[in-house]
Amino acid sequence: MCGIVGYIGKSLAAPILLDGLRRLEYRGYDSAGLATVSDGRLETRKCAGRIQALADLLKKEPAPGGVGISHTRWATHGRPVDENAHPHADGSGRLVLVHNGVIENYQALRAQLVEAGHTFKSQTDTEILAHLIGKLYDEARAPHGKARLLEATRAGLKQVIGTYGIAVLHLDVPETIIGARRGSPLAVGLGRGEHFLVSDPQAIIAHSQEAVYLKDYDVAVVGRDGFEISTLEGGIAGSYEVTKVDFTSDDVTLGEFPHYMLKEIFEQPHSVRDALRGRLSKDDASARLGGLNMTPQELRDVDRVIITGCGTAYHAGLVGEYLIEALGHVPCEVEFASEFRYRNMPMDKGTLVLAVSQSGETIDTLAAVRESVRKGHRTLGICNNVASTIARECGAGVYMHAGPEIGVAATKSFTSQVTVFTLLALLLGRIRHQSSSEGLGIIKALEAIPAQIERALETSDQIREIAAKYVGAKGMLFMGRQYNYPIALEGALKMKEITYLQCEGHPSAELKHGFIALIEPDMPSVFIAPDDTMFESNLNSIEQVKARRGPVIAIGTEGRKGLEQVADDVVYIPRCPDYLSPLLTIIPLQLLSYHMAVHLGRDVDKPRNLAKSVTVE
Ligand code: G6P
Repeated sequence: MCGIVGYIGKSLAAPILLDGLRRLEYRGYDSAGLATVSDGRLETRKCAGRIQALADLLKKEPAPGGVGISHTRWATHGRPVDENAHPHADGSGRLVLVHNGVIENYQALRAQLVEAGHTFKSQTDTEILAHLIGKLYDEARAPHGKARLLEATRAGLKQVIGTYGIAVLHLDVPETIIGARRGSPLAVGLGRGEHFLVSDPQAIIAHSQEAVYLKDYDVAVVGRDGFEISTLEGGIAGSYEVTKVDFTSDDVTLGEFPHYMLKEIFEQPHSVRDALRGRLSKDDASARLGGLNMTPQELRDVDRVIITGCGTAYHAGLVGEYLIEALGHVPCEVEFASEFRYRNMPMDKGTLVLAVSQSGETIDTLAAVRESVRKGHRTLGICNNVASTIARECGAGVYMHAGPEIGVAATKSFTSQVTVFTLLALLLGRIRHQSSSEGLGIIKALEAIPAQIERALETSDQIREIAAKYVGAKGMLFMGRQYNYPIALEGALKMKEITYLQCEGHPSAELKHGFIALIEPDMPSVFIAPDDTMFESNLNSIEQVKARRGPVIAIGTEGRKGLEQVADDVVYIPRCPDYLSPLLTIIPLQLLSYHMAVHLGRDVDKPRNLAKSVTVE
């Protein structure tokens, strides 16, 4: 949520900042801005709209200089208008600051500053922080310079309640950028004769593949030739490691695809293969998940699993619930992270908490992790971003290895998460009731999945045509049962996120308990009806929809007849065991939402109001 890029080095800052912002644009895209230092002046350019609007502005009014900070915004406080775009300046106009996060006590701080004579140009919480640090700098007695700015930043942040990742630039110390974090990610990107300060190293992948991630309450002083990290209290920060950024520039470019979402949908045969790589053991007829750091005895002692996450990760958790109960024989429940953190669930010693998050930075999931750890529960992370806060704070878990996901609508991360849950369920099951031949059967079926996803992707052209038929729909209903009930929820989420159609997902059999009232000719229903024990029951529900003139798109299994007689359109996926079917049935639903959104002319990769990674509450 929001993106920060800072640069100090030998090149012109603005083009590097702009390129970095473009790579982070998916994090927030309602306004953008930058400030550079040139000839003893701050050159600030900012405007509402996408990064392209900022690029256009810079063509008219270039911002020279080799030092600068920049920001792409997802509005929390204040509408997305020019004056609310970052950077924000202090009262003197000599300090500028960009900020991710939320300053919760900004109203009280604002009142104090107004009392002291400050006037504000924006409605943001961030501007208060700029004025506060600027005021503390101006009032300090120490000589002008780096140490004075560092102290003022520390002193200002100590008055703040809330979350922040910030970059600060001051005209008195034009050779320095100061960064600090609490709750919002920030890293120093390393280079030769140049350094970066970024909320995500993806931003600078073309320039640097090494980063040092700040921890909460760290403050970094970044210069051309080096950087120093200390704590908010002024102490020496604990040890930090240089992390090698393990993806390439190609991983974050579109290639031949028109949108990241489509690229990522088509990457799923590879990303699922990568989630399985080295983790299937035929010798043990089980899964090997070394990152769990748990002995077989400890795994056996698990008598309850609680999965927590948000959005798509929550839906993957719901599939995980079915898998862990059916294959692993362990009672399992799933809770929204935003509820878990406040719910105070009674949990005993044998409860294992699994936090699922692609980004590893979602604030509610992080808070749920902290609550669980505070209570002494074993808490594991299922994350994609290896260096993320959730991954670090859990200390153990399973990485998804899906590669960078840029499209705001999550696709490949979902199938990777479900794959990881299947591995966990296999491991738990083999420690309990499953025979080795059952384990080997699951392994064989899992190994076939990447190629089956490839075949499911071949339905894309057929789905494009189906989507064209329904562009006039006023909404869509998604239904499935058992393993495919969460897929109905995820299908509805994908569709609403990127088409803005009102969509609902339900267990098929709930139809007659309420939402059958919505059925009419311009409200199509999507039934996920593979060839499993629920097939006949799904068929019944389809008949009930058809009897009320509702159009039906069905997702069925190759070779299973019956759907084509009742549904208007049928998309077939390859045959697999019912517990693996979500990995295949989700593919046509991702494609359906994608093609609908394209037909409707939506901005697929940057849907309105959303952000990829929600780092504010
Ligand atoms: C946001 C994104 C969703 C994502 C959710 C959880 O809402 O728009 O696509 O599923 O956050 O993100 P996480 O990174 O924790 O998986």
